[in-house]
Amino acid sequence: MAKTTGQNAEAAVEIPVDALTETQARAELDRLSEALARANQAYHAEDAPEISDAEYDALKRRNASIEARFPALKRADSPSDQVGAAPSEGFSKVTHTLRMLSLSNAFDDHDVRDFDRGIRKYLGLSETDPLVYTAEPKIDGLSLSLRYEGGALVQAATRGDGSIGENVTANARTIADIPHRIAGAPGVLEVRGEVYMSHADFEALNARQAEAGQKTFANPRNAAAGSLRQLDATITAARPLKFFAYGWGEVSAPVFDTQNGALAQLGAWGFAINPLTVRCTDPDAMLAHYARIEDQRATLGYDIDGVVYKVDDLNLQRRLGFRSTTPRWAIAHKFPAELAWTRLESIDIQVGRTGALSPVARLQPVTVGGVVVSNATLHNEDYIAGRGADGRPIRDGKDIRVGDWVQVYRAGDVIPKVADVDLSKRPADTMPYVFPTTCPECGSAAIREEGDAVRRCTGGLICPAQAVEKLKHFVSRAAFDIEGIGAKQVEMFYHDDQLAVREPADIFTLEARDRQNLTRLSNRDGWGETSAKNLFQAIDEKREIPFERLLFGLGIRHVGEVAAKDLARHYGSWEALAQALDTARPAALAERAAERAAEAERAAAAKEDRRARIAEARAAALADCAVPPAAQAAWSDLVAADGIGPVLALSLSDAMANPEERGAFDRLLAHLTPIPPETRASDSPVAGKTVVFTGTLEKMTRAEAKARAEALGAKVSGSVSARTDLLVAGPGAGSKAAKAADLGIETIDEDAWLALIDGA
Ligand code: IVH
Repeated sequence: MAKTTGQNAEAAVEIPVDALTETQARAELDRLSEALARANQAYHAEDAPEISDAEYDALKRRNASIEARFPALKRADSPSDQVGAAPSEGFSKVTHTLRMLSLSNAFDDHDVRDFDRGIRKYLGLSETDPLVYTAEPKIDGLSLSLRYEGGALVQAATRGDGSIGENVTANARTIADIPHRIAGAPGVLEVRGEVYMSHADFEALNARQAEAGQKTFANPRNAAAGSLRQLDATITAARPLKFFAYGWGEVSAPVFDTQNGALAQLGAWGFAINPLTVRCTDPDAMLAHYARIEDQRATLGYDIDGVVYKVDDLNLQRRLGFRSTTPRWAIAHKFPAELAWTRLESIDIQVGRTGALSPVARLQPVTVGGVVVSNATLHNEDYIAGRGADGRPIRDGKDIRVGDWVQVYRAGDVIPKVADVDLSKRPADTMPYVFPTTCPECGSAAIREEGDAVRRCTGGLICPAQAVEKLKHFVSRAAFDIEGIGAKQVEMFYHDDQLAVREPADIFTLEARDRQNLTRLSNRDGWGETSAKNLFQAIDEKREIPFERLLFGLGIRHVGEVAAKDLARHYGSWEALAQALDTARPAALAERAAERAAEAERAAAAKEDRRARIAEARAAALADCAVPPAAQAAWSDLVAADGIGPVLALSLSDAMANPEERGAFDRLLAHLTPIPPETRASDSPVAGKTVVFTGTLEKMTRAEAKARAEALGAKVSGSVSARTDLLVAGPGAGSKAAKAADLGIETIDEDAWLALIDGA
C-alpha cells in the first residue's frame, strides 16, 4: 500500500497538464506507467487491488492527456495501448444459464419495513396476512456456482459479470465443503453459495506467505478470491477455503417449495449450511435476528457484512420475480459502514457527461474496513459548505476545507464519502473552499439552476470532458456496445487530431475518413491492419441498432435504460419522437414557466424577495408564449406515457431544442437505421402488444400483472383505444370491456391471460 501513499502525495501537488514542462512530463509518464503497471498486477494477478477503480481511471486519464499534449514523449510501452491484463486469462469462460444477480440493500430498520410493505403490496397481501421470510448471514466472500449432472459435480464457475464467469472446476474440487457426488439430486442441479476463508486460516496463510517471502493478503475475502482463482489447482488445494451453500440456479425438476426447505435439502446432500439461518414471520423478528447476528459478528470467526432476508415461499418468489439486476424477493440488510479519519489533501473537480461538476476529495490514504481509500466523494458545493439540499445546516454547519482532518465513511461497494470534519484539528491557515464557477476543463461558465444541487458546465459538446464522457457512454455496453472501443479508445480517438472523434457521428465516418487521411488508424501504436478492419466491421454492425439503445446512448440527462425503453415503445421511431418533441416545445416552455412561477411563490413565502422577483420575471417572460393546442396535446401525450414524468420530458425537450445537441443527433442519425421495438423477434406471445387490464384480478395485483406483461415486452395501457391489442378483463369489468367489444378487440379473462403467458 506504500505505493498508494506515494501516488497520492504527488497527486496532491499535481501540476495541470497545460503547465507541465517537457522534463516534468517525461518523468510523470514514467511514474504513471509504473503506477498503472503496479495497479494492474495488484488487481488482476494478485486479487488485491491497491487503488480504487476511480483512482485507476484518473491515472489513466492523466497519462492520456499528457500523451496528447506531448505525443513525442509517449512511451513505447504506454499504458494507453494496453488492455488491462485480462482478469481471467487462463480460465475458460462459463455462460451462466441463469444470471447470477446481486441483492439490493437495506441500511436501517425503516428500509427493512419498507421491503416487507413493498412485497405485501406487490402480492396484494394485507398487513396481517401471514408471510414468512428467512434471515441468514450475508457471507463476505465470493459467490460460486456448482453444476451437478446426474449427481456428479461437472462444473464450478465464479460469478464474473453475472452472465459469464470463469471455469474454476479443478479448484472447486479441492474445497472440502463441496461434495463431488450427491445422491438423489435431479438430473441437473446448480448449487450456489459463497466461498470464504476463516479468520484463523487467513492469519495462518498470511504468516506462511510472509515467511516464504510471498505477498500477503489485505483481508480474508481477497485471500479467498486469490486462492480460488489460481491457475494451478494444487495451490488452491493448499489453501484452506470453505463454502456455504445458500441458493441454486438451474434445476431440471422442481425439488424445493421453500427457501428454508431448500437449505435443509442442501444440508442433507452434504453442503455446509449457515447455522444462523432462521424463519421469521414479521419484520420485528427479522430485525431481532439481525441484532443477534450483529452481536455475534466478532466471534463468528469469518467475515459477514450483513443479513439477507428472503421470502420463504418459492411460489411467491416466482411471482415477485426480478428487477433488472436484483430479485424483488430478497434484500441484504447491511451492517453499518465502517469509518476512519484522515487528512483531506486536496479537492479535485470532475466534469461528468451531463456537465455536472463533482468535487472529489483526495485523501491521505487510509484503510476503511479492509480497503485502502484515497478518494472520496464530497457530493456538491452545498455539502462542502455544510448545507443540506433544503438549505439547512448539516454537520452542525461545519464546512470542509483542504487540510482538514475528515471522517471517511464506506458502506460495501458504495463510493466512500467524506462524512464529518474534526474542527479541533483544523490547521490555522485553512480557507473556506471556493467552488469554481467556471468549468475546470473548458473554462465555460458553470451555473447552478434554481433547485438543482449541482453546478453544471454550460460548454456542452465544446467541453472536452463532457464530450469524452458522452462518447464513453455512447459506446458503453448498455448503449452501442461497439467491440474494440472502450473508454481508453474514446480518449485516444477524441484527442487525436486526425481521427478527431468528437461526437458519436464521427465514429461512423471513421472508416471513410481513415481511407482519405494520410495517417491511418493502422499506423497508430497498438493498431494494425487487422484490428482496424475488425473495428470498422464492429462499427458497421451497429448501424442497425435497437431504437431504445440509440435513445439511451445519446446520453440525455434523465434518460436511463428504462426510460429509453419506454420512449422507444411509445414513439416507435426517431422521426415520430423528434416530431412530437418539436411540436410539444411551446408547451414544454410553458411547463417550465409554470414551475418558475411556483418557485417564485415559494421564494416569496420564504421572504427571499430577490429570488422571487427573478423567478417571477422569468415566469412572466415565458408565459407570453402562447401554447397552440397541438403543442399541448403532444406534451400531454409525452408526460402521460408510461414511465415518463415532467422532469424527464423537460430534459428531453431541452436536448432536442438545443441546436448543438440536435445537430449532433441529426448527424448521427444520418448513419443509422434504428430498429423499432415491435418488429424485433421475441419469444413472448405478447411482445410488442398493447394490453389493458380491467376489472378485478384475483391471482395477482395490478402492479404484478403490469410488471410481468412489461417484462414480456408488452406495453400496458390504462385505457382502451384502437391501438389496444388485448383486453384482460376480470369480474366487474365495465365500460372498457364494452368499448373493446365495440372496437372488436380481443378480450380474455385472467386465467386465459395466465395460460397465454405461461412459460414465456
Ligand atoms: S442470495 C439473487 N444469500 O451477496 C442473488 N447471497 O449482493 C441471491 N451472499 O452475489 C443471492 N451471502 O455472493 C445470498 N446468504 C446469502 C449470501 C449471499 C452472501 C452474496 C452473494 C451475492 C451477493 C449479493
